[in-house]
Amino acid sequence: MRMFGYRELSKKLDKRNLPKHIAIIMDGNGRWARKRGLGRVKGHEQGSKVVKRIVEASARLGVRVLSLYAFSKENWNRPHEEVDALMHLLHKYLLSESDNLIKNGIRITVIGDLNSLSPTLRDLIADVRRRSGKNTGMLVIIALSYGGRYEIVEAVKAMVKDVQAGRLGIDGITEESFGGYLFTKGTPDPDLLIRTSGEKRISNFMLWQIAYTELYITKTLWPDFTREELIRSIIDFQKRQRRFGMTGEQIAVPEQGKAGVRGA
Ligand code: IPE
Ligand code: IPE
Ligand code: MG
Repeated sequence: MRMFGYRELSKKLDKRNLPKHIAIIMDGNGRWARKRGLGRVKGHEQGSKVVKRIVEASARLGVRVLSLYAFSKENWNRPHEEVDALMHLLHKYLLSESDNLIKNGIRITVIGDLNSLSPTLRDLIADVRRRSGKNTGMLVIIALSYGGRYEIVEAVKAMVKDVQAGRLGIDGITEESFGGYLFTKGTPDPDLLIRTSGEKRISNFMLWQIAYTELYITKTLWPDFTREELIRSIIDFQKRQRRFGMTGEQIAVPEQGKAGVRGA
């Protein structure tokens, strides 16, 4: 198979049909390192360099929202040296990259159980959020100490509080209003979810939001992921027909039943 370079690949992209929101489960750092006889942390270091390149490439392509799964709630169960190294790397990434990203109009936020993070990391996150809050370019959502079930339970708690306080009636509980209680409120659901390292699972990522997201699973380990493969994943996405429960014919003839297309 002939391999195309970045420029050639970009030309194959349909700029009018870009996924508005791309979510990535950045997996395979440990295996990347092990394959080279290195410690797992080396894989995370290499992985954080790839984050930088993929954020830049996504912004340049015109993606509106990029969600990155950086650390799950379950990842706290890893050996504490690895957890410490990951927290250190996340801190370093935010510290070294935020100025440049903010200068380029990018808005940055972090979702997850922030109470479980160190006060220094929490302060840094608050600072980056505040400094980038008015930006209107791509939104980068970093999922950190994040769990999809946790997010849903937190949303339920906030909703029940509003019901108890009389701010919300039972009839006000709908799929739409529920979305407004999630960490991702106000952002469109992911159109495309990329998972690297070949694992065919969701690992507790954005359970509510990915109901109709297109999945792209690649064997590439995250530290080997490139902007070329990002483009290939988008080209693959653009070849698909998103039916949202309807028939292929309804989608092909937009006049019929178009009103029912959710998220279109
Ligand atoms: C992804 O790589 C990074 C995090 C989960 C923090 P892994 O560390 O899970 O790498 P593998 O899956 O062990 O190869
Ligand atoms: C998912 O990867 C979490 C992140 C990429 C941050 P894991 O490596 O933790 O997932 P499992 O354990 O293989 O499902
Ligand atoms: Mg993994």
